[in-house]
Amino acid sequence: MIELAIFGAGRIGQVHAANAAAHPSIRLKYIVDPVSREARDNLAAQTGARVVPAETAFADDALDGVIIASSTDTHADLLMRAADAGKAVFCEKPISLDFETVRNVTDHVEASGIACLLGFQRRYDSNFRFVRDRIASGQAGQLEHIVMHTRDPAPPPRSYVERSGGMFRDQAIHDFDMARYLLGEEIATVYAVGNALIDPEIAAAGDIDTAMVTLTSVSGRFVQMVNCRRAPFGYDQRLEALCDREVLYVENRPQRGVTIADAGGFHSSAPMNYFIERFADAYRAEMSAFVDLIETASPPLAGIRDGLEAQRLAEAAIVSMKTRMPVDIHPGWQP
Ligand SMILES: NC(=O)c1ccc[n+]([C@@H]2O[C@H](COP(=O)([O-])OP(=O)(O)OC[C@H]3O[C@@H](n4cnc5c(N)ncnc54)[C@H](O)[C@@H]3O)[C@@H](O)[C@H]2O)c1
Repeated sequence: MIELAIFGAGRIGQVHAANAAAHPSIRLKYIVDPVSREARDNLAAQTGARVVPAETAFADDALDGVIIASSTDTHADLLMRAADAGKAVFCEKPISLDFETVRNVTDHVEASGIACLLGFQRRYDSNFRFVRDRIASGQAGQLEHIVMHTRDPAPPPRSYVERSGGMFRDQAIHDFDMARYLLGEEIATVYAVGNALIDPEIAAAGDIDTAMVTLTSVSGRFVQMVNCRRAPFGYDQRLEALCDREVLYVENRPQRGVTIADAGGFHSSAPMNYFIERFADAYRAEMSAFVDLIETASPPLAGIRDGLEAQRLAEAAIVSMKTRMPVDIHPGWQP
């Protein structure tokens, strides 16, 4: 039985804690959330885990690993402490909003030798994984370009936007990661445009709510990203990959898998509303991958360096948007 602690009892912490508590190989031992008493007590009641301060968790020699699902501004410090304590880590994205910190933490975690899985859950979704495997096997032929759409159901509140690091680091980072995952190579050029077209509160917070990003890979292949904070019908999360023998489409997952036809036409249900519902299976698969990482050293689909590389692209997109110029990325590029 693997013993774990979870940091953060908020929105995603509740998902990971429930998955850990339900996993037959995990004993969720501790919950750490010094900020939200209500959230941590509710989660303790639901999972049977004990609420403790961070020091107790890191000092427990029997503890195998930690899940970092707390606010973004805590990730870097908790990753460093986990590395120093020799605990395996499952950490949510992003590593930090400051790129130099991302680099330093990545180096420290890698040097420590701890096992680390980064929370790019889309890699664990069966549909995205199918596309990746079909491309990687050569069955689809040569991948030439990818088009991705990520539109949230509705803009987040201004309080969230102000702490999020902006749409590229907060939301589009999953698409930057997916681009690298499907291409199987690094990105050479990033060109981004963005604006606040939806919500004046987002503009007032200094962020954007609509963006288009064009990526060119090292070998000259393309990715077009469409990112947005609103879709009138719910969560819009799709992808198409053009290969020379096949086009692979990942469509939205409907809430109901039945289409009703009548004289007025064909009526299908709206897509699953947001990421917690849409990626419920992926979050479970991610927790199982963390178990495999600890028990058998099976490499995770995303590690800490993938977090750094996706963020490098987010930083380049911010620079490109501000300068209205494409940004050439080289391996050591930083903002
Ligand atoms: N991969 C994904 O799909 C996904 C989805 C949502 C959020 N996230 C990421 O997960 C993180 C949390 O997001 P959220 O939406 O759950 O936020 P949230 O605000 O709902 O929850 C964050 C929790 O962390 C707690 N916290 C603050 N400081 C802490 C500390 N020092 N130690 C322990 N707990 C602390 C807060 O009290 C709060 O309960 C963010 O970094 C976010 O980017 C990832």
